[in-house]
Amino acid sequence: MILREFFDYYFSVVDPEVLSIYQQLMPGVSDLASSYEEIFSRNDDEAIAFLLKFHRVTSDLRNQNPSQAILFNVHNNVCFPFFVEYLWKVMNPEDRQKLIKEAGTTDLPEITKQLNDDVNLRNWFRKEIGSHLSQQDLFTLNEIIALQNFSSGGEYSFLKYVYPDIQKLNGKVLDAGCGAGFATLVMSQYASVYSIDACKARLERAMALSNMMKKGEKTIFPRVIDLIEEELGGIQVECEFPSADDLLAGTSKEVTFVEGSIDNLPYPDNYFDAVNCLDVLEHTYNPEAIVEQFARVLKPGGRVFITAPTRYGEVEQHIHESIEGTLFPAMLHMHHFDPQSLTEMFERHGFKTVEITPFDFMNWEEFMEIASRSPERELAEELKAQPFDQVALQLFAVFEKI
Ligand SMILES: C[S@@+](CC[C@H](N)C(=O)[O-])C[C@H]1O[C@@H](n2cnc3c(N)ncnc32)[C@H](O)[C@@H]1O
Repeated sequence: MILREFFDYYFSVVDPEVLSIYQQLMPGVSDLASSYEEIFSRNDDEAIAFLLKFHRVTSDLRNQNPSQAILFNVHNNVCFPFFVEYLWKVMNPEDRQKLIKEAGTTDLPEITKQLNDDVNLRNWFRKEIGSHLSQQDLFTLNEIIALQNFSSGGEYSFLKYVYPDIQKLNGKVLDAGCGAGFATLVMSQYASVYSIDACKARLERAMALSNMMKKGEKTIFPRVIDLIEEELGGIQVECEFPSADDLLAGTSKEVTFVEGSIDNLPYPDNYFDAVNCLDVLEHTYNPEAIVEQFARVLKPGGRVFITAPTRYGEVEQHIHESIEGTLFPAMLHMHHFDPQSLTEMFERHGFKTVEITPFDFMNWEEFMEIASRSPERELAEELKAQPFDQVALQLFAVFEKI
């Protein structure tokens, strides 16, 4: 539903030459928005072939004509009014009154213009209103965020930290918050994989790739990996992508997909041998409830692989947000962790710590220089007292159920 609304809106506001690019991707259809909505809800080979072309186009547009590209949370971009209007509809009446007071008008187009033009108003909005989104609103917005990239972000971390030990994975593995399904695909050669995600568009992508893998139709995978690699180009993880032939040489064991929230897992107790949960906990409302679920569904001795942003990552996020003035907490991170808080949370639910490895480093000088220009400078000073001698933006951790 939200995708239909979004495409209706987007195709009505983009420049004619940009619209024609999207029309050429899907020639001869009478209702472009509904055809786009339809293809994003499919999981066949044709849908994946389409997505690869679509994401090339969106990635080129982002580089060459960012104001016209599909971008979430970015002012001076055609999508910006759509998100303001979405928030306007879902925000509670008190928040709406606060916004009206702050902007000095009840007129939504005028409020949108002010939000677009005024970084201070955007910063005020993020703190006062953008951080009040419900879990359901977040899931809804996620369907649009998924249009930005083919990748779901955790592919490098998977390759760097889980892939080297992949031969040890066997039995049943839960891919919790599987996103676009890259890890699912690779792991399915070694274990029976159960993949769950709340985002339908990403799940369809994962299912389509998994179906192709099962049928042995692998010719598309080099293009998939090229695209993911290109999209993740800026991430500071020192790791090479293996070739598609190396990564996906085997045949897929059983893969089961579920659309749902990982705070209420639809699997029996003591069912899994491992849980892969990369770049997910920070997006959830209640990580504690999720860890409790992991403890329930894992067999004793089973391991959880986690990546999550650190508090340095939080400060970096706040700094960039306050400079850019985004409407929502960037990419909707609800939580950040440090080694202690992450360890304590898992230990409270009957896990022991096997490994905690910081990664994605910035140097202190660079970090403090950026921090000095931001309202978050005090938090940055406070963090300097933390255990790492470098600024690690993310953590990789392994916990074992006792
Ligand atoms: C940044 S992506 C990471 C995806 C994938 N693990 C990877 O490594 O690429 C975060 C994913 O978590 C999913 N997610 C967030 N909260 C969730 C929840 N409560 N239940 C299920 N999935 C959730 C989102 O839909 C999204 O696909």
